[in-house]
Amino acid sequence: MRKPVILITGAGGEIGHGLIEQLAAEGQSAIITIDLNPLDDMLRPKVMREFVGSILDKNLLNRILSEYEVDMIFHLAALLSTRGEFAPLAAHQVNVEGTLNMLDFAQSQGESHGRPVVFLYPSSIAAYGLPSLEIKEKAGRVKEHEWTLPTTMYGCNKLYCEHLGRYYNLHYKQLAAEKLSGKVDFRSIRFPGLISAVTVPSGGTSDYAPEMIHAAAQGQAYACFVRPDTRIPFMAMPDAVNALLKLARADRSQLTKTVYNITAFNPSADEIRDLVLQGFPGATITFEPDLKRQAIVDSWPADVDDSAARNEWGLDPKYNLETAFSEYLIPAIRARYKNANR
Ligand code: SER
Repeated sequence: MRKPVILITGAGGEIGHGLIEQLAAEGQSAIITIDLNPLDDMLRPKVMREFVGSILDKNLLNRILSEYEVDMIFHLAALLSTRGEFAPLAAHQVNVEGTLNMLDFAQSQGESHGRPVVFLYPSSIAAYGLPSLEIKEKAGRVKEHEWTLPTTMYGCNKLYCEHLGRYYNLHYKQLAAEKLSGKVDFRSIRFPGLISAVTVPSGGTSDYAPEMIHAAAQGQAYACFVRPDTRIPFMAMPDAVNALLKLARADRSQLTKTVYNITAFNPSADEIRDLVLQGFPGATITFEPDLKRQAIVDSWPADVDDSAARNEWGLDPKYNLETAFSEYLIPAIRARYKNANR
């Protein structure tokens, strides 16, 4: 018999860290993971089986199919927005072909064990593209169907894969004699910038916020790569993980959308700097905008309308801007580097 499990791809990344911690703390589900790199020592004991490999490796996916019954997939593996601009074809390969492989894997799982596979897909504010700062200001809280004209390869990949997920869910092989759709229960969140106390991101363009905090905690000077007035939505990592789990466990009949915006707060880079300085008064934080990365962040909305997520599946982030810093980020990051220096 195959063993029933939850599968997490890109498990060693930022969201994966928080998600594995949370699922392991609940203790109800066996977890298997795929990541290009071995999991770190803290995570490894929390998963049943770790596959070090690529989502582009179909032999690996077939092996997992033969050994495990997967009921839920958190497909977190991706190449983020800054890195994707240096290697657009690699980004497309990982973000689109990799996601297609995972959707097909989920379809095969669903056909084989007969239950829909809940497929959680983190999309991003990068799926949006606003053409100018004036329009960004006027647009206000952008809704899911507005301004989906991404300027980055990563954003294009995310937007397209939202559609691929909807296709597998609702229309897969619609001309076949028997109905094959519905095996992949696809659900997606357009995440804002995420800030974790545990990990530092790499390769993203919202990274200025977490980089600023982690640099300050380590006593390193930080030159922020966007202007002080730059504004996009953010969320603390524990709330992002809770949102993923809430959507994963929501009653399908309550969901009217494939993709949901979520947000918790939307400070300017300058406001983030002020909060970091309150926590780490000696920190040196300057602004040296990189005009090209700035343009990417300027194309992302200053705020998003997440009322559908709040109404349909109970999105309810615990941390606002002040408490995210005072109760989560500052104390946890301070403890992290104190321990690291021992
Ligand atoms: N945080 C991501 C990035 O900056 C967006 O999803 O690429």
